[in-house]
Order: sequence, then structure tokens, then C-alpha cells
Amino acid sequence: MITFDKEKQIFHLQTPNTSYMIGIYGGYLLEHLYWGKRVDSTSGMFGTESRTASFGANDAELSEQGISASTDAIPQEYSFYGSCDLRKPAFHAIYADGSRITKMKYDSYVIKAGKPKLCGLPATYVENDSEADTLEISVKDELTGLKLIYRYTAFNNYDAITRNVEVINDGDAAVSVDTVMSCNVDFTGADFDMINLSGSWARERHIERRALGTGTTKIESRRGSSSHHQSPFFALAEKTANEKHGDVYGFSFVYSGNFEAGVEVDTYGRTRAFMGINSCDFAWLLEPGETFTAPEVVMVYSAGGFGEMSKTFNRLYQKRLARGKYRDAERPVLINNWEATYFNFDEDKIVDIAKTAKKAGIEMLVLDDGWFGKRDSDNCSLGDWYADTKKLPNGIPGLVKKVNDIGMKFGLWFEPEMISPDSDLYRAHPDWCLHVKGRKRSESRNQLILDFSRSDVQEYITKSLKDVLNSAPIEYVKWDMNRNMTCIGSALLPPERQAETAHRYMLGLYSVLENIMGSFPDVLFEGCSGGGGRFDAGMMYYFNQYWTSDDTDAIERMYIQHGTSLVMPAAFMGSHVSAVPNHQVGRVSPLKTRGYVAMCGQLGYELDVTKMSDEELSEINEQIEVYKSVRGVIHNGDMYRLVSPFESSHTAWEYVAEDKKTAVMFYFTIMTAPSVINKYVKLEGLEADKLYKLRETGEVYSGDVLMNRGISMPYGKDCEGCMLVFDLI
Ligand code: DGJ
Repeated sequence: MITFDKEKQIFHLQTPNTSYMIGIYGGYLLEHLYWGKRVDSTSGMFGTESRTASFGANDAELSEQGISASTDAIPQEYSFYGSCDLRKPAFHAIYADGSRITKMKYDSYVIKAGKPKLCGLPATYVENDSEADTLEISVKDELTGLKLIYRYTAFNNYDAITRNVEVINDGDAAVSVDTVMSCNVDFTGADFDMINLSGSWARERHIERRALGTGTTKIESRRGSSSHHQSPFFALAEKTANEKHGDVYGFSFVYSGNFEAGVEVDTYGRTRAFMGINSCDFAWLLEPGETFTAPEVVMVYSAGGFGEMSKTFNRLYQKRLARGKYRDAERPVLINNWEATYFNFDEDKIVDIAKTAKKAGIEMLVLDDGWFGKRDSDNCSLGDWYADTKKLPNGIPGLVKKVNDIGMKFGLWFEPEMISPDSDLYRAHPDWCLHVKGRKRSESRNQLILDFSRSDVQEYITKSLKDVLNSAPIEYVKWDMNRNMTCIGSALLPPERQAETAHRYMLGLYSVLENIMGSFPDVLFEGCSGGGGRFDAGMMYYFNQYWTSDDTDAIERMYIQHGTSLVMPAAFMGSHVSAVPNHQVGRVSPLKTRGYVAMCGQLGYELDVTKMSDEELSEINEQIEVYKSVRGVIHNGDMYRLVSPFESSHTAWEYVAEDKKTAVMFYFTIMTAPSVINKYVKLEGLEADKLYKLRETGEVYSGDVLMNRGISMPYGKDCEGCMLVFDLI
């Protein structure tokens, strides 16, 4: 719900448990008043505190009204370089006369039911206008004619507020916009820890927590993709906040390219949070009459610690970010041939894997890298999307038929954004890759990146993929992306627009994804970027699941999936059982544990089943049966991170069905120790006054005993795992 108190000049955005307020100060300045626990009145929000700062210049417009105040001392709703606010600006532009001063005045507002789409960009959505209200506040710079619209949506069923900004050039000269954050939130204090998800290839989204100090603390990507290294998410939490308690403010960027996000703490101990497209190597030339739309930020306040924050992000993203048939439908259990064969396969080998996998209860065969061009290693053929008939004499249609005849569905891998210098495509179009004239082209994994800002490249790739997908009943696509951007430049853009390349690439990619996925609504699309390198909210508008990491080791996956769950639901996390010793870290863990960890996402397999014993195959069969009996709870219920691998030698996760009738708990021992006794693990989210029966043993426990005393779990051996299912009786 959003209201405007005309008398007090305060906008009040409310979600079920949170409030967010913006005031119009002195008739022109938008002051950030509040974000936190829901309040029902605006009285007293405009405090009487001094609005001056030492060494702060008095704002000229306010001075004219007889108000002595500096914007440096006022919490700003959005901040501009060149005002008297000398903190980090959310906006910076260079005008035709060379000036860099932006001075925005409140102009008008509109409140509407629902949530408008963001043109060409991914965003959360509503299915019905009653689900949310949207506030658009317009501000104007009288001198330059530049106008900004601050857009806010308050959801009625989720404690989430979304923000984005539109820049409109209503003037008569071009403007170069070189910083445009999607949000700016000024907090009155700085007593926070910052939590973010960082990592690397095969070690994505590990949780980091640090205290704030004066100055800027920032996470960012300049890699052309959101990256393995920093996820476009951070939270500010009060120092004592934990999974269950405390104030937490979460920010998640619905964008997949370069970003910057973080805080600046000023000398008065106040915190300014920001998130947006990275201003490094970004500038957008806005001609008169043009509009630039900055991507969406989703902001979640939780009074109940990280657990409550994650619940909101998880639910919102699963139901109002993900789209299409597979948003709600159960997905096939797949086997992927990558770790089984790498590039070394032929049709017979793939058919053998499919036959054995079918016996083990697996439902879909996914053919990974190496099926096209003459690709026997990673040094060629990206861009040549036609089957290698040496490996696949009957082409993709022939293989799909054989796999379908076995009773399995078929899925296929692509890396559409890439081009190998050794490819027919590169020989025909050497200027189709990102590059800068006169500079040598730096390869990574022997490949260059197609310039997705170009419409001819977009059309070629769209047609190539559609041709393959139309050639046979392909029911799943894995869309991979295996390098970061260097030498970012486009052969088609004029010099003054070169700094638009990285963002234009993202817009081009989003448009290609929309086009292809729109044409194949029944195909399940899984995203991938060398594992979870671009596993962000922007991508999850298109893909229904994402390959969480190239690290398939069960223990490593506990850290990765635990961190990922801060924002993403289990239903998004592609998670496979692979061979031991594990190919990434060499660890040997039981098949049972590998199965349980993979069940905490979208279960799949990625190993050579033809080399497994009958006992192992029947264990896989049982795993799939068990998974199918609980996946509804894991994918649609609420997740509770009971024990963190980052803080313990154990991991415990619990998933509780929305109606609280079933709870599934997984408990893992990472490393055992001598002289240990049982550990009590307290469950959460149950009906306190009801009884639950443990499915495995028939024992009966009351909800409040499970939540307050907990259940006694054996300390366990290295890499051991178990699953407990509680049914309400
Ligand atoms: C990186 C992916 O993450 C892997 O799963 C696999 O598809 C390879 N690329 C193939 O090159």
C-alpha cells in the first residue's frame, strides 16, 4: 500500500511488516525519512534536528525560503553530484556546456495499482494489480531540462520494496550520464555489519561479514558479468543480528552485468547505501527526448534476522521473478554427460549412458559441450552450432530419437555468447567479437565474446539456436558462458558511445533470451557461467534454474548452497551427484551424502553411470524416489539454515511446507572429531502445539519440543549425511 499525506508532505510505502517513508522538505527536496518495521503513522517523522553540517554549504534554494540547511546533513532519497551533499552521489552527468552540476527539484508524483514492466530489463512482476502499488516521483533540473523518475513498488504479500530510476532528457542538448545508481538509502547510524557473497570459480557465494568503518566499503564487478567473484547482493545487519534475530536490510540487484554496491559511512557516523550499474567504464549519451532506464533493486527489511530476509527473497524470486511453465512445474531429474566424458564421446557412448540412466530412474539426458563443429577440446568451434557428424553420425535429430526411444527426454548445451577464433563464424565475421581496433584480442579458454550489442549478432545467434531447437524435440537447454569480458569495445558504436558497450551487451542478451524463450515456452532453460558465475536475479527472470557451481563435491557444495540460499530458493539451484574421488577437490564422500546435498536443489546426476555397480544404480533409484517424495517441500516450502558450515563442523538445513504439515531436515557432518557426543539441533517453523511423526522411525515429537529442545543427532563421521522427515499427525 502507498499513501501520500498531503498535509505533512510524506509518502508512506507499506508492505505487510515494513514501512518506508519519503518526505518533501521545503517544497522541493526529497528527504529519506524511514525504512524499517511497519509503523502506522507519519507523525513525528520530520524530526526537528538541525539540518546543518560543519563545513557544509547552505543549500541555495532552501536559503531563499529562509531555511538554513545543508543537503550534506539531510538524509537524501537520491543524491546528485554538484548539490551541497558531498557524500557519494547516486547520479553524475556531464552537460553540453561541460558543467557537471545536477540540481533536482521535486515536480510531481503518481501512485498507481500494480507494477509496470521495465522496458528491456528483467524485473519482479505482479500477476494482478492488487498485489502491489507503485509510486513514481518526478524531479526536474530547470536549467538543463533533465528529469528523473524515482520508481518504487511496495508488494502487498511480500516484505519487499523495489526501486529503479528513469532518466529523461527533456532538454535540447545531449547529456552524458556516467553514474546512475538504481538506489540510494541514507541510514541515520552506522552500527552495522555488511554481509556479502564473494568467491571465485568453483567457490561461489561464500558468506562474508565485516564491520563498517568510516569511508566506502564496496563490492563490484568490472568483468562484464555479475561474476563468481562478487554476487550483486549485500545486507546491512545490526551487530547482534543472526539467522533468527535482529534488523537486516538486504539489497539485491536484478541485473547481470557490471555493478557496484556498498556503503559510505560519513564523519557523523551515518551510512549511505547504494547499488547500481558500475560507473567504472560506463557513460550513456542521452540525446534530447531519450530515456535511460536503470535496472531494478529489490530491497528487503527483516526484523527477524537473515532467515526472515531470505524467506522474503526466496519466495518473491520463486513466484514473482521466475516465469513460465517451469516456475511451478516439477522438473525432470537429469543426467549430464560432462563429468562422465568431457569432450570424449560419440553417439554410442551417449546412448549407453541414457540406457543405464533410465534403469536408475533418471528422466532426461543432457548432452553437454563438444557436440558441434569439430570440437574435441575447448580450442575451437564456438559459434558453429551444427552437429559434429564424426561424433554424431545421425546429427542431433538422430541422437534425440534414440534417447527418446529409450524413454528419456533430451537436453542440449550451448554457449551462445562466445566465438572461437578457430570457427567458421569467426572466419566469416572477425569483427563480431568485442574488441578495440588496433588492440590484440585476449583469449580466455581460447575464446572471444560475441558483441551482443549488435543486432546482426543477436539475429544470427537467435536463428542458430532456433534452428537446432526446431530440428528435434529438445526439452531442455543449458546456456553456458565461460569467460569474463576484456577489451570491451564494439565495432559498430561511434567513439562517443563506446562506454555504452557493456550495458548494451546486457540489453542485447536479455532481448535474445526473451525472444528464444518466448518461442519455446515448453523448454526448460538452465543458466550457467562456468558454474554459478552469473547466478543473479537478472538471469533468474529468464532461466528457471542455474548451474550453481562447477564444484560438485558434496562438502564444497554445502558452503556454496548455504551462501546462495541467502537470496535464491532451492528450486533455482541446479545440483548434481558426481563421481568420487571428486573431480574438483579429490574428496571421497558417500553416494548417500552426495544425493542429500543435491536434493537440496534441483537433483541431477553427472557421472558415468555405465561404470557403476548394480547396487549403486539401485541406490540412485531409491534417491530419486525419496527426492520425489520431498521435493515439493524443498522447492516450495520455507528454508531454515539451522547450522552453518561457515561456523561449525556440521551443516543442517530444514524445509517446512507452507501448511506446516511436513518438515524435511538434512544434517551433515563435515569433519568429525575424537571424543564427541551427540548434538542437539533445534528445528524451526513447526506448529508448536501439534505432534509430528518421524517418517523414518515412527517416533512422535511435539512441535515445541523439536523447536525448543531440539532433536539429538549423532556427531557423525567425515562427510556423513542424513535426512529426517517429520509429518504432522
Ligand atoms: C562450464 C560449465 O559450468 C560445465 O558444467 C560445462 O558445461 C563446461 N562449461 C563445458 O565446457
